[in-house]
Amino acid sequence: MDHVFPEGFLLGAATAAYQIEGAPDEDGKGTSIWDTFAHTPGKIRNGETGDVACDHYHRWRKDIALMRELGLRTYRFSVSWPRIFPEDVGRVNQAGIDFYSRLVDGLLEAGIIPALTLFHWDLPQALQDRGGWASRETIDAFVRYADLLSRALADRVPIWITHNEPSVVATDGHAVGEHAPGLTDPALAVQVAHNLLVSHGLAVAEIRSNGAQKVGLTINVWPQAPATESPEDVAAAERQYAAEAGWFLDPLYGKGYPSEIMATYERKGWAPVIADGDMEAIAARTDFLGLNYYSRSVVRDAPDEEPWHASGVDEEGEYTDIGWFVYPAGIYDLLTRVHADYAPPELYITENGAAFTDVMTSDGQIHDERRTAYLQGHFAAAARAIAEGVPLRGYYVWSLMDNFEWAEGYSKRFGLIHVDFDTQIRTIKDSGRYVQSVIREGKI
Ligand code: FCB
Repeated sequence: MDHVFPEGFLLGAATAAYQIEGAPDEDGKGTSIWDTFAHTPGKIRNGETGDVACDHYHRWRKDIALMRELGLRTYRFSVSWPRIFPEDVGRVNQAGIDFYSRLVDGLLEAGIIPALTLFHWDLPQALQDRGGWASRETIDAFVRYADLLSRALADRVPIWITHNEPSVVATDGHAVGEHAPGLTDPALAVQVAHNLLVSHGLAVAEIRSNGAQKVGLTINVWPQAPATESPEDVAAAERQYAAEAGWFLDPLYGKGYPSEIMATYERKGWAPVIADGDMEAIAARTDFLGLNYYSRSVVRDAPDEEPWHASGVDEEGEYTDIGWFVYPAGIYDLLTRVHADYAPPELYITENGAAFTDVMTSDGQIHDERRTAYLQGHFAAAARAIAEGVPLRGYYVWSLMDNFEWAEGYSKRFGLIHVDFDTQIRTIKDSGRYVQSVIREGKI
């Protein structure tokens, strides 16, 4: 293939604290809502928890050695908030800061650029007990946490991501209830989404004033394609896109909430309470936008489907193990559309990857051709967007290693590195070798 990434392109891999660290109450860590949720019977497949996960809290040095072997230019990880503030906003746990400080130093020594996500879903339980993201107290707590951590690490961590996928936090956590804290209140979910955005905006200035080079956030977007060219289907796809993506991206780029979506929320009594200054706060200037891309949806007009009068249509083709359609061109569609609509100064793919069932063959290797093909297709489509002028500066494969996939437990493997969860033995998969070669040679 003659597709290439440009010189200096940051290709790496991503993880999140609860999915890999384990050590749920070591060195003064407090309880997070994911600790609580995973230990609630019936919430996670096979009753699994993140209590051990990849035991990364103890094995981080070896994990950095593996990253170095793969030649990763950059590594995106998240900080476990309750390691830093075990209870609420009161007491700071220095041992928690020290852990991430050592991790960052280890990455820098290995020549790997750290990218830090402040909130990848593991809210301190003590804050949930006071209302969680539905309460404005949590906004203040987040800003304090962002300030404290960036004071400690912004001299060494150049890339800061405030939130990971606020729409998933709001919807899966507060409307559908399949993620922590497991609530099923759509009106509350809309308020949570708003509060998350406000907390992002208020944190940006703090992080920047503490010396961070780049501050942004990560949004998950599935492009929505109409099932037919009919005006009804086209409108349904646009409604779905506005509800999922526009609801977050429009206010971040100073356009306010999409009016059609707000009108629906008002009709249903779900509209958020917006305080003076909130919309200005949300629109704080950022240095980049992070996008998580996994798949797209095809949508048709469906007048009976509440609230968006749209419904998904199955596509013919390949699906990953988690049931997501494989559609590499979607990453091109997404990047070019977001660039045209909002023109963020820089873009990063902060997650992209695939869950497939892996088999270790008698040679002790994992020949995961489908994952490699998935990545190759998506890399090529992203390179096409770059060639057309989209300022995509980096790309993080989800994930560095197999890990705890939220409500799916350990059943879905996304890693470039295989983890045997009984022995904690790590084995680089063929897809990991493939990424290594792309980084080394630039060629896709
Ligand atoms: C994203 C999450 C990430 C991981 C992938 C598969 O929604 O941000 O933690 O679970 O999906």
